[in-house]
Amino acid sequence: MPALRLLNVTKRFGDVKALDDVTFDVKDREYVCILGSTGSGKTTLLRTIAGIIKPDEGEVFIDSVNVGGIAAENRNAVYVPQTYALFPHMTVLENVTFGPLAKDINRTAAKEVAMNVLRLVRLDKRADAYPNELSGGMQQRVALARGLASGARLLLLDEPLGALDIRLRLELRTELRRLAKESGLTVIHVTHDQEEAMTIGDRILVLRRGRLQQYGTPYHVYNRPEKIFVANFVGNTNFLEAIVETRTREGSTLTLREGLRIRVLDSSFEPDEAVIVAIREEKTTVTPEPTGEEPNRLSGEIVEVHFLGSHIRYVIKLSNGDEIAARVPLKEARTELKHGDWVSVNFDPVNSHVYEYPMLGLQGELEAS
Ligand SMILES: Nc1ncnc2c1ncn2[C@@H]1O[C@H](COP(=O)(O)OP(=O)(O)OP(=O)(O)O)[C@@H](O)[C@H]1O
Ligand SMILES: [Mg+2]
Repeated sequence: MPALRLLNVTKRFGDVKALDDVTFDVKDREYVCILGSTGSGKTTLLRTIAGIIKPDEGEVFIDSVNVGGIAAENRNAVYVPQTYALFPHMTVLENVTFGPLAKDINRTAAKEVAMNVLRLVRLDKRADAYPNELSGGMQQRVALARGLASGARLLLLDEPLGALDIRLRLELRTELRRLAKESGLTVIHVTHDQEEAMTIGDRILVLRRGRLQQYGTPYHVYNRPEKIFVANFVGNTNFLEAIVETRTREGSTLTLREGLRIRVLDSSFEPDEAVIVAIREEKTTVTPEPTGEEPNRLSGEIVEVHFLGSHIRYVIKLSNGDEIAARVPLKEARTELKHGDWVSVNFDPVNSHVYEYPMLGLQGELEAS
């Protein structure tokens, strides 16, 4: 039994389709990340599940119950908003008891619930502090505690780490997941940070202009991006325009501009069809001279070198004018390579994906909104 099911949910604001025929399931105790850029409909999705917004079409089921006629406060789901506005004149404890108190339980019981969740988020020792005496990360945890105190099993977190600095984000994201798993909660966590989604999600749902693009495990979404948009949004990817030259059951030969040839394993397109080939930046190797008989060896000039700490990123301009970026782990990198050097860039045919040439052209397809 899924904890949550959306069936063909559409929500319009005037001419804007904030959600466009969205269908998906979330399993009990699953941690799902909704990944999308600004305006893609993430908040609208959470607010629709929570019952704050009514969809124009489609249905929402929580624990197999169609919640269409059920008010937000009776849905067994709690929405923790994007801006976690705490009441500045209330202590941490008062902020957290505010939720349970609103549900008419007695003061002692509410305090007990609040202290329990504060212990969970490790803030029980700061129960008497005021929000402005706490760090951003602590304030975030108070907001989370407020959601947890409601007792709802389905937690809807809207950019829960968005307002924090990078170090805290990294620290809190694993803590969030741990907390959810320990408490047996089902979580929908909205983010525009692909690394965050990959690190903590059991599954990732990629949203663009209100439409579901792909839904799967981080491994699946990363290694089998079904659309150009997803390949671009998750990970660092090169896209080259090509024409299919020949194909067999084992793969195809593609022609890039100026007749450069590459081999791919895909054989789903006909000869003469225009396609886009996607190559991950980290699935490439860069060498000063050709090595052996690799099938996909292209040569070009290094036009940019970026030191990224664990990797070096080279941008290589091929003889046909196309550019390929390559990310090489520092320990494998030929650190003597520099701007202006002529190099070979190589990728295994297995590490590429081929897509139908998009109607809007490559640039149009890559734009998020
Ligand atoms: N109350 C509203 N009235 C009119 N338009 C709205 C309303 N809420 C959202 N929209 C529009 O719906 C679309 C989706 O908005 P939404 O807030 O869900 O996006 P988001 O993915 O949460 O973006 P962000 O990352 O910026 O928070 C946007 O085009 C937005 O302008
Ligand atoms: Mg939002």
